[in-house]
Formats: sequence, C-alpha cells, structure tokens
Amino acid sequence: MSPNSSLLTPHSSLSSPNSSLLTPHFWLITGGCGFIGSSLVSYLLEMKAGLRIRILDNLSVGGRKDLVTACGLQEAESIASDTWQTGGGACELVAGDIQDPEACFKAAQGAKIVVHLAANTGVGPSVDDPRGDMQANVLGTLNMLEAARHSGAQKFIFASSGAPVGEVSPPIHEELAPHPVSPYGASKLAGEGYCSAYFRTYGLKTVALRFGNVYGPGSTHKSSIVAKFIKQALAGEACEIYGDGTQTRDFIYRDDLLEAILRSARADIGGEIFQIATSKEHSVNEVSEFIKQKLKKHRIPMEIIHTEPRLGDVQRNYSDTTKARNILGWTPKETLDSGLEKTVRFFLAQASS
Ligand SMILES: NC(=O)c1ccc[n+]([C@@H]2O[C@H](COP(=O)([O-])OP(=O)(O)OC[C@H]3O[C@@H](n4cnc5c(N)ncnc54)[C@H](O)[C@@H]3O)[C@@H](O)[C@H]2O)c1
Repeated sequence: MSPNSSLLTPHSSLSSPNSSLLTPHFWLITGGCGFIGSSLVSYLLEMKAGLRIRILDNLSVGGRKDLVTACGLQEAESIASDTWQTGGGACELVAGDIQDPEACFKAAQGAKIVVHLAANTGVGPSVDDPRGDMQANVLGTLNMLEAARHSGAQKFIFASSGAPVGEVSPPIHEELAPHPVSPYGASKLAGEGYCSAYFRTYGLKTVALRFGNVYGPGSTHKSSIVAKFIKQALAGEACEIYGDGTQTRDFIYRDDLLEAILRSARADIGGEIFQIATSKEHSVNEVSEFIKQKLKKHRIPMEIIHTEPRLGDVQRNYSDTTKARNILGWTPKETLDSGLEKTVRFFLAQASS
C-alpha cells in the first residue's frame, strides 16, 4: 500500500520481505508517531501482510497527523477514532507515556514484537535536564521491558545510539568499552544494560540497535544536522554549525535503518547489540557543503555560521558494521549523495505544498 501523501517517499529501496514470516505478528511500536516510528509503521503496512500494529506515544513530539499520514490515510478518515483499518493491516494509537508502567502493560498486551523507540532524543535536552532524560530513557525502557516480558513478547528491539560508547577512537564497534560523554549516552547505555539483563535473566529476546545519525524523508521536526540545515536554508536562516565543523558522524538513510529493524525482528537472536550505520565518516562541514550544492540547484542559498561547540558532543563518530552484516545479513544500500537528494526533495515538496 502506498501512502496517500505525496510527501512520503515510498520505501522502494527496501528489500521485499517475506510477508509470511510476519503475518502472525502483532507489533507494538513505542514512539510510533516520531520520525523513525511513523516511517516504520508506513513500511510495515506497505507489506500488505495483515499485520496488527499498536503505537504507544505521548504525542510530545510526533503527533496523530504523522501517524495518520504514515498509515496512508487522509486525516478526515480518522476523525473520532484511534484505530484504523488500512490496506496493510490494523493500526491503533494509544496515547500514553512510557514512564507510566500501567500504560506500558496495557499497550503490550498481545504484542509479539516490541520496537522501543520512544525516548528523550538527543544530546542537548539531556544536558539541560539529565534527570528528565533518565526518567524517560532508563525508567521508560525498564517499564517497557517489564511489560514485554509479562505479556510474552517474542522480541524486544531497543533504539540505542553511538552515544553510549562516547569519546573513543572510531570506528565504534560492539566490543569497545563504553565511556558515554552525555547524559543521553549514559541513559541509552543503561537501556542496553537492561536489555542484556532481560535476555540473560528472563529469556526475553532483546536486540539493541545503535543507530547512526538517521536522516531522510519524514524528518520534518528533527533538529539533527541534515533536517536542521535544510529547514534553516529553506526558511532563509543561517545554518548553525556547533564548533569548527570538523566533528564527524556516520549518516544513515532512513530506509536502511528500517531494513535493519526488520531483520532484527526476524532473526532468532537475543541479548545482542549491533552498530547500525554506514561505516563511513563524514564531517559536519562536508555534509553541509553537500546540502548546499543540492539546494543551489534549486536556487536556494545556504549561509553557514559557526557557533560554540556543544557540551556532550563527541569529536569523531563512525561505526564498524561488520557484526550486523555477519549476523543479520544487513548492509546499508543508500549512498549519502542519493539519500541527501531524496531528503532535499522531500523538504522542497513539503515547502511548496
Ligand atoms: N533520529 C536519529 O538520528 C537517532 C539516532 C540514534 C538513536 N535514535 C533513537 O531512535 C529513537 C527514535 O528516534 P526519532 O528520531 O524517531 O525521534 P522522534 O523524536 O522523532 O520520535 C520519538 C517519539 O517518541 C515520543 N515520545 C517521547 N517521549 C515519550 C514518552 N515519554 N512516552 C511516550 N512517547 C514518547 C514522541 O512523541 C515521538 O513521537 C529514539 O529512541 C532515539 O533516541 C535516533
């Protein structure tokens, strides 16, 4: 099923999953109204596999509209209901907070695959409010693990990041001792720790995926580098680089990430951590220049300014993804050039609609 919105790019680069493997499954996606969550909902429903998807989201960042669009519905079709039947299956939104254990228990009832994406995202907010970050990311994750174990879930996929590893000599890999720099890194590390413990103590098949910097269509509200620069340029504002811009990141296109989530759901593994990125290191200066050139083709100027480095940011970050390739059979497909092109086109289409 193709989403109705012309702003959503179909997930054409994804491999065609064997839908029979997924048919009996009932997915719970926390944070399913957000960038990655709503993209995952859209992707799963495109499989036409008769899936059942429940979303638990407190609507603090992503909203009902994002989800309705991801389900390929017009907003008018969904008035007065939080349950939608789509060509790809049934989708249900539960508005609730992962910090509320009861909401987590209720949401997990019947779910076989839990994808835990809801979180306090990003380094900046965690530096401003480390306690709030801990409550959402540590207690929230513990609540979801408890809910998943008691409801008999078969798989628990946790959205982690490179941040738990912190300031080390890259490439980051799964065996490096973690030294988180930011409170966000510390809270994601705690989540990874609980995932390991829930597999080894209770047998819940957990998989922690350490996402690189995810970009792509649908990232409208994100303040990470790619989305932020394109939005600032389109608004005629200067694009702000923290520090001298030599800091490096590993940028992964949305659809490659979704494929990794899907493969983790299918694989018969537990208690594992995987780096999910591209194994390529790009500086912030380099990426901003790529975006500048792409926008220039559309006669959109991009002014770059440098401001103070941000507390909690690491200088270099890219991943070694050998383990994901060997165990999940996963490799990223999208080049930075083509992924950025699709992302710029998404924002341009959105700006002109
Ligand atoms: N986007 C990236 O580059 C990136 C990189 C590494 C890790 N991650 C992780 O991936 C996950 C998803 O990221 P995203 O980019 O889609 O973020 P997002 O902010 O777009 O989505 C997060 C969603 O979670 C919801 N949410 C937040 N706090 C909640 C709470 N307490 N209870 C219930 N719902 C809550 C928000 O409303 C939002 O819809 C996060 O865990 C994030 O830390 C993202």
